[in-house]
Amino acid sequence: MAEIQLSLSVLLPILLLLYFLKLLWSRRHYPPGPLAFPIIGGLWRIAFEKEIDGMTPIKAAKQYGNVFTLWLGHFPVVFLCGFDAVKEGLVDHSEGFLDRGLTPFFQKLSEGKGVGFASGHAWKKQRRLGQMALAKLGVGKRIMEDKIEDEAQQLVEIFASQKGKPFDPILFITNSVSNVTFSLMYGYRWPVEDPNFEKLIKSNEYLSNFGLTIFYALYELFPSIMDRLPGPHKKAMEMTEMLLSLSKEEIRKHKEQEPTQEPRDFIDYYLREMEKEKNKNDPTSTVDEENLMHSIHDIYFGGLGNSSSIIQFAIIILANRPDVQDKIFKEIEDVVGSSNICYDDHKRLPYTHAVIHEIQRYRFPAIIGIPRQTTRDVHMRGYIIPKGTIIVPNLLSVLLDDEYWETPHKFNPNHFLDKDGNFVARKEFLGFSTGPRSCLGENMARMELFIFLTRLLRVFHFQPPPGVKKLIEEPVKNATLPPHPYKVCAIPRNS
Ligand SMILES: *[C@@H]1O[C@H](CO)[C@@H](O)[C@H](O)[C@H]1NC(C)=O
Ligand SMILES: *[C@@H]1O[C@H](CO)[C@@H](O)[C@H](O)[C@H]1NC(C)=O
Ligand SMILES: *[C@@H]1O[C@H](CO)[C@@H](O)[C@H](O)[C@H]1NC(C)=O
Repeated sequence: MAEIQLSLSVLLPILLLLYFLKLLWSRRHYPPGPLAFPIIGGLWRIAFEKEIDGMTPIKAAKQYGNVFTLWLGHFPVVFLCGFDAVKEGLVDHSEGFLDRGLTPFFQKLSEGKGVGFASGHAWKKQRRLGQMALAKLGVGKRIMEDKIEDEAQQLVEIFASQKGKPFDPILFITNSVSNVTFSLMYGYRWPVEDPNFEKLIKSNEYLSNFGLTIFYALYELFPSIMDRLPGPHKKAMEMTEMLLSLSKEEIRKHKEQEPTQEPRDFIDYYLREMEKEKNKNDPTSTVDEENLMHSIHDIYFGGLGNSSSIIQFAIIILANRPDVQDKIFKEIEDVVGSSNICYDDHKRLPYTHAVIHEIQRYRFPAIIGIPRQTTRDVHMRGYIIPKGTIIVPNLLSVLLDDEYWETPHKFNPNHFLDKDGNFVARKEFLGFSTGPRSCLGENMARMELFIFLTRLLRVFHFQPPPGVKKLIEEPVKNATLPPHPYKVCAIPRNS
């Protein structure tokens, strides 16, 4: 008996060790990363972190290299960090990294539909439709720019009604950005006083940050069990359902409208394409209402948090730097005079344009993007990343990459200016990602940032409330990186 016990206590560790070595051997072609043990994988590494934030993957990249693998249990996740690795992945290997990483949670939320989460042929179709719709509403037609100008004007009026007293601009800005998206998607703004509207804004915040919660992790690991349990994951799903059903109702109303010569909004455009598609009798067509609903959700969701966060930070950063505000004001005065500013004027306003880029670089609002998945085995930097591996391109690490930016952690408009003050487009500025899956709403967002900020800065001088030296520029640490709640004074320039 004692002998059996003895031999077991010798044998068992040896077997475990052999198993562990076999595991390591089978994973030798993956990019390096924290040593992956059975069951916990490389997660032990995170336990050593004081806190997890946007710098966590950047620090890990310094240790393991810019392409590294974190094993979540037996599940490999490959991170791309810094400009070179992200560009290599998203541009040079664009076909290999094209698919969306449909983990159980994202599958449940999106059913693989819509422009954000579809993959393969279905995604190509939705992407093209989305691009054409936004181009149709945006370029030449001025529909998009007019709507943005209207919203910016409303925001100016709301700020003016504060009469220079300290106020919290966060919700006003979020509402404005949401108004722009709704008027473009639905053709009108969602009434702010509708109780559903507040739910919508809240749910957007909630969903954006859900990815860093324990419930999210539990869902990804045990989806079928979690589906049967109540909890925040259920709340996240209900919120998506709500936005989808709002869109469904809107689509129904659009179908009853009298047709016009030109499409009035995104739904209108898409429904026309659906008609055309019907006549083709293609049974594999993905141009349908479900995909339309999901695409609206993706565009709204993708744009709202990011654009509003950048504008909210812009006000903080500028309130802390009166000299930058004055320089922008003067540039606009000198170049545009008292006439209306349109988006095209960004070409004549290099300093203003550079400041807007730098704000987005310096306070990029997301720690990591939504994951991708390899469509085939990808050979990269001597490693083999097998088909179906989840890939996380880290845009924040690109915008803070110390190999490319002179002062990555310091606000510095000179990043985008040459010595003569001309605007310099930097290839390392991946604020809208890059490659075939880059941000669909890039043009809309650029217009929004430019028009909102120039309108506001022409009318107001922003400053911290009396008694406050500096507004906090550090973001709240979450999956998204919004500003801390703040108050600011918008002092009218002409008083
Ligand atoms: C957004 O749209 C609503 C109309 O639904 C309007 O009352 C409001 O002024 C707009 N802007 C903001 C910042 O709320
Ligand atoms: C992160 O976001 C979630 C959802 O919006 C929120 O409940 C939580 O308090 C946030 N965490 C921090 C540290 O602010
Ligand atoms: C903001 O942009 C990032 C990077 O493109 C994207 O992954 C993220 O989903 C966007 N934010 C939200 C709230 O969707």
